[in-house]
Amino acid sequence: MDKITIDPMPFMSVMPTLLVGANVSGKPNYMTAAWATVACMAPPMVCVAINKIRFTVQGILENKTFSLNVSSADQVIKTDYCGIASGKNEDKSGVFHSFYGKLQTAPLAEECPVNIECKLFESVDCGSHLLIIGEVAGIHADRDCLTEGKPDIAKINPIIYAQSTYYGVGSEIAAAFSVGKQYK
Ligand SMILES: Cc1cc2nc3c(=O)[nH]c(=O)nc-3n(C[C@H](O)[C@H](O)[C@H](O)COP(=O)(O)O)c2cc1C
Repeated sequence: MDKITIDPMPFMSVMPTLLVGANVSGKPNYMTAAWATVACMAPPMVCVAINKIRFTVQGILENKTFSLNVSSADQVIKTDYCGIASGKNEDKSGVFHSFYGKLQTAPLAEECPVNIECKLFESVDCGSHLLIIGEVAGIHADRDCLTEGKPDIAKINPIIYAQSTYYGVGSEIAAAFSVGKQYK
């Protein structure tokens, strides 16, 4: 064994690249986020760690709703832009066309193949960041990104984030919940 101990940091191997949508003072704003994952299965919940200083936070706390939008590789420029420009200084409402689902106040980015509308369940103050936990109120997906009614990663072509770089989805390695049966 040859391991080196490195300083603590919020490390994860790979992360998704999403757009958090929120209405701030009635206007849509989209912010790029990679620190996001699933929080619960029943009820269905997702979560995202957002720095308290982000403009987006104002909108989430104001409306108690937000969205997570899965952008695809061909939207990488717009997606990165939403992660370097703040709604405090620039109007990002026109970067994507917005539509609304049943929550009415969570803007959804039309160009993104999958849109998840969320009702704020809890905001956990972790220090620099709030862990924003949302109950999934509805999912909207482009028809051509579905296989048997479920979002299909191969069709969505999402952006993976790691080490300040965007990656595409690689090739399949093995079937989950299955290949492990070969152990023993
Ligand atoms: C790839 C990428 C991932 C990011 N992930 C997060 C994140 O998970 N949480 C966060 O608070 N900021 C994250 N940011 C930074 C915000 O997107 C950025 O500060 C943005 O300008 C905030 O927009 P707003 O002020 O309009 O809310 C990320 C930026 C990039 C480029």
